[in-house]
Amino acid sequence: MSTKTDLQALLAQMTLDEKIGQLVQTNGIMFLKDDTELTGPAAELKIDLDYRKNIGSLLNFKNANNAIEIQTKYMQQNKNKIPMLFAMDVIHGCRTIYPIPLALGASFDPELVEECSAMAAKEAAADGIHLTFSPMVDLSRDARWGRVMEGFGEDAYYTGVMASAQIRGYKGKGLSNNESIATCAKHFAAYGAGEGGRDYNTADMSEYALREYFLPAYKACVDAGVDMIMPSFNSVSGIPSTANKHLLCDILRDEWGFDGIVNSDYAAIKELVTHGIAKDYKECARLAFSAQCDIDMISPCYAGYLKELIEEGVFTEEELDRSVMRVLKLKQELGLFDDPYHGADPARVEALELCDEHRKIVRRAAEESAVLLKNDGVLPFSKEIKKIALIGPYADSHDILSWWKARGNKERSVTVAEGIKNLLPDANVSVLSACGMAYNDNDDSTLEEAVELAKNADIAIICVGEYYRYSGEANSRTDITLSPAQRKLVREISSAQPNSAVLLFGGRPLVLTEENECAHAILNMYLPGHEGGNAAARLLFGEVSPSGKVSMSFPRSVGQCPIYYNRTQTNRPPRKEYLDVPSPHNFTSAYLDCGTSPLFTFGYGLSYASFRYDSMTLDKTQLTKDGKITVSVTLTNISNVGAKEVVQLYTHDLVASMVRPIQEFKAFKKIYLAPNETKTVEFEITEPMLRFWNYKNEFLSEAGEFTVSVGYADHFYFTEKFELI
Ligand code: NOJ
Repeated sequence: MSTKTDLQALLAQMTLDEKIGQLVQTNGIMFLKDDTELTGPAAELKIDLDYRKNIGSLLNFKNANNAIEIQTKYMQQNKNKIPMLFAMDVIHGCRTIYPIPLALGASFDPELVEECSAMAAKEAAADGIHLTFSPMVDLSRDARWGRVMEGFGEDAYYTGVMASAQIRGYKGKGLSNNESIATCAKHFAAYGAGEGGRDYNTADMSEYALREYFLPAYKACVDAGVDMIMPSFNSVSGIPSTANKHLLCDILRDEWGFDGIVNSDYAAIKELVTHGIAKDYKECARLAFSAQCDIDMISPCYAGYLKELIEEGVFTEEELDRSVMRVLKLKQELGLFDDPYHGADPARVEALELCDEHRKIVRRAAEESAVLLKNDGVLPFSKEIKKIALIGPYADSHDILSWWKARGNKERSVTVAEGIKNLLPDANVSVLSACGMAYNDNDDSTLEEAVELAKNADIAIICVGEYYRYSGEANSRTDITLSPAQRKLVREISSAQPNSAVLLFGGRPLVLTEENECAHAILNMYLPGHEGGNAAARLLFGEVSPSGKVSMSFPRSVGQCPIYYNRTQTNRPPRKEYLDVPSPHNFTSAYLDCGTSPLFTFGYGLSYASFRYDSMTLDKTQLTKDGKITVSVTLTNISNVGAKEVVQLYTHDLVASMVRPIQEFKAFKKIYLAPNETKTVEFEITEPMLRFWNYKNEFLSEAGEFTVSVGYADHFYFTEKFELI
């Protein structure tokens, strides 16, 4: 920032309308034309041409040219010369698209996430964007919910670590830098806990569950300096988040001290009417503003009624000023008063979009995020192989970016077929889609041809998955298996060609019980972004070993949802030998027709290498409140393949005043081990790591015995006891 606008003086000269305008967020399309009158959505928003001069922020516009044009015109008309803030959903890249957040979750590599976010910020800033509605940190335990793709999975601590890395990446050297953008953590709170996995649905939850599982990742974002919080659409324990004073005032503002902007979700303020807690839009404005929701995204409530509410004395002008000041401060931090364009430059967009450097980053991200779910020894395929059958709807498909691909051009993504041809230019690759991606597209008239192709080739790669349009907002499903035609394809090709592997795509953990039985290998790519095909080829043919671990468990059956690794003990837990299979015993907390464990649990993922965990030692077995225990874990790569391993640490509070999870993920390190290499990894355990929300509503630890384990959920190599004194 070269000059510093005196924000107090600026505020003092603003009229009520000008102030309220700062709290109104509208859509880019409203600024595209010089309308003589505003009709349609604009009119509904209670915004006329005159009002347009004062609007504080915009979301969703086209590109850098568009941003420059809108801002230039706006600055000519805005009396106070306060630039508009341009926001957009940059979720996993702006132009160069990397894997979806759920896939990045599998990478267990926060530095990589930071690097990807920094790249996204650079492209976004050049493209006229000042703020992204990211990170999304909604804990996801229910794979029926389509938005699980946007977050990092089922663990609160881990989500917080990864989201903090995103924030660091986006904000880079500081917001005034033209390669940085501001951030918004969403959707506060418990959006992922909607009943039945149905989007926008009610979440009714105890303070214990909220504090223990659903809030910590937001708190981590606040601690990491997030600029904005977006309340969730749904109601939490009876009150929609947009008007939820317990969440927005007691916890976010008072307890956590957050003084940034709260920006409603799309039309969420006016939808307080459809929630049935307000009779009209004026009431909506009153409820949301009372909860200190500062900005109204695309609804007529603040533009139409906030002035009246102030004039009637329902709110004071000081309360209005507090919200306006939050917006002005962010604009100042972004340096917009000096450069309202924040470096927007179409030529720079062109230079950055899918440049070699960015392609390299997103390819590495796709490689680090892929999870090898099964391998009976067929993978990696030899690069000497001559005849390859590439079968299935994802074999040569560009639909590998996702629903939230921002400005990514899907035609420039590398398909699997292209990736294999890039890696093995001399191989004979036959491609057959064999069936569609959509669930109801069950035309299998080319199945026989596909089977013949597979039989006559040296290897077959079965490229299947969930259609990318089935995950993301409002894409909840009750059946999360592959489509019937794709299931059949996997069965038939796997039985016809033993040298075959399933290459899987999609935005959620699917139910793969059947595929896990019949396929010879399953490599899950999630939705891998622009370089998905190149990454898949390099993984399949052993240029690089898979190292991803699932951060959201895969259920055995949809009936298990919600399912997660850190379940609490019950009075009658299932016997250990029946975790994976139906339990024949009466009176245990199990299913008669299915195991209780996930098919692929949190922290699970195979490698082409084999790691032997040699030892785990604790430097002491008593932990004082301000002390620490150092845990040393030694492991060896006992194979001839160099690869990465995610070393994971879990604890269990054995006896406590509240029922505690039987395993809690506490620390991790992703390390590379060359063939036959041995490394020792150290972790620290400190008292704050052992705290939990107790029945007196305090976040405290309790003295007593704990265990510490290394391995992955339910599968530990070593477990030792220690005592907190
Ligand atoms: C609705 C979504 O819930 C939210 O995540 C997104 O940021 C807004 N729309 C704006 O696109």
